[in-house]
Amino acid sequence: MAKPKVLISDKMDPNAARIFEERGCDVDVKPGMSKEELIACIGEYDGLAIRSATKVTEDVLEAATNLKVIGRAGIGVDNVDIPAASSKGVVVMNTPFGNSITTAEHAIAMIMALAREIPAANERTQKGEWPKNDFMGVEVTGKTLGLIGAGNIGSIVASRALGLRMKVVAYDPFLTEERAVEMGVEKVDLEELEKRADFITLHTPLTDETRNILNRERLGRTKKGVRIVNCARGGLIDEAALKELLDSGHIAGAALDVFQTEPAKDSPLFGTPGFICTPHLGASTTEAQVNVALQVAEQMADYLVNGGVTNA
Ligand code: MLT
Repeated sequence: MAKPKVLISDKMDPNAARIFEERGCDVDVKPGMSKEELIACIGEYDGLAIRSATKVTEDVLEAATNLKVIGRAGIGVDNVDIPAASSKGVVVMNTPFGNSITTAEHAIAMIMALAREIPAANERTQKGEWPKNDFMGVEVTGKTLGLIGAGNIGSIVASRALGLRMKVVAYDPFLTEERAVEMGVEKVDLEELEKRADFITLHTPLTDETRNILNRERLGRTKKGVRIVNCARGGLIDEAALKELLDSGHIAGAALDVFQTEPAKDSPLFGTPGFICTPHLGASTTEAQVNVALQVAEQMADYLVNGGVTNA
């Protein structure tokens, strides 16, 4: 019987290709293809392994006449047209756990960077200014962290924040009282979180329910001097309102790893005092990229060779 053929179309840790081969698949690694190039070759493959650069749109799926499975080395599957894939019987898998610690650590790094204005202080010190009198940070000890989303990543953020001696209040419609107690957090509604949080961090997927969850009205009701972190998905925060409230001084700081439109090469937020950002680096550590590459290859090969279904 012919071996299943897999295409890895994004930059991925080499362990993925190794696992596919060890588990009985033929694999081609072709990162950086244009959409036309992908459409021209996708018909040959049984499996497609991606990170975030490849957009698996309806026309790509139309050309994917042999495709059985798409595997996303990461959590979000926003770059896959799920209804189109499902209607063609193509299984879509993700790796929900491989980069959770890494993303949670990025959120904590953002909290600390905001608290002590590290990016601005670094930039001015390296310009030779020695601006010692221009920076006055805040401690995180004793401050309240408002967690929006207390799932896989949110719960890791909570555990790290508790280690930093923060209090954690969490809003998550799926969080039970028992789980909140187990996590050492207080379950609250969004209104309570807005009133109490000194720092807010978001850890939810982008869905119809969570889109603009921090809208103008809610941002306006937050505690004066709040600092906000988003390492989850662009679209959870109204960026225009965030800019206005940073300018007015109501919000003391905001750190975004994700933007409504990515790549974010231009944004009204750029250059705003108190604003810091990174280019969707939440999952970018050596450890996390090895984890997700191994997981996606193991799951996909298992499906193609044995029919096993995990994280679909
Ligand atoms: C994910 O969905 O796993 C993260 O956002 C990481 C990424 O897209 O690179």
